[in-house]
Amino acid sequence: MDLKLVSLIVAALVVLSHTVQGQVLLPGRCDRQQAAAMSDFDVSQYVGKWYEQYRYFAAFEIGLKCVTAEYSPLPDGTVQVNNKGINSNNGEAKDILGIASIQNPEEPGKLHVVFPEQGAEAELWILRTDYENFSVAYSCRDAPGLNLRFVSAWLLSRTAEGYTADVRAEVDRILLQNNVDVRRFLPVDQQSCPAATLDFLQ
Ligand SMILES: *[C@@H]1O[C@H](CO)[C@@H](O)[C@H](O)[C@H]1NC(C)=O
Repeated sequence: MDLKLVSLIVAALVVLSHTVQGQVLLPGRCDRQQAAAMSDFDVSQYVGKWYEQYRYFAAFEIGLKCVTAEYSPLPDGTVQVNNKGINSNNGEAKDILGIASIQNPEEPGKLHVVFPEQGAEAELWILRTDYENFSVAYSCRDAPGLNLRFVSAWLLSRTAEGYTADVRAEVDRILLQNNVDVRRFLPVDQQSCPAATLDFLQ
């Protein structure tokens, strides 16, 4: 086959897989990045509610505002992750339950998350959190057979209002250290959200 045709096919496959996977596709393999999961991550301090402030494009989150993730410990040592969001077009609530576990106690910042209802699973790395203000979460998966990777990243806060300038500066430093491109982040609307009391009615 001539080179032009080969590159055309590769380009078509990349576009196709991008659409299918619905995630940001970037050059280079995951292990070539400087991203490192937090080595002394303590999941017991991480429990409770987190508000998504920024995220990379992800098909399963299209149009979702007011996105939160609530981490609750389960008796068997795993952690339940309850992701909630509101469809910004029709106001419908969306809810996805995941079960997170640490596969290797030497690497506590690397969470394996299973979504039983969706039949899906993901590797979620906590790059850094101070447990009280911010969390930087990241997921990277190599595109099979290509020198490309699918990347997701989330900036989470403990309050809907987001970060103070100090915390934001620290988050920016962490992103830079971990080679996470800040230009890819999309802001998440946490302002026009239903009141917390409505949670009980949904
Ligand atoms: C959270 O942010 C506040 C305000 O910037 C700061 O005073 C506090 O020390 C931070 N918490 C941690 C655990 O760093």
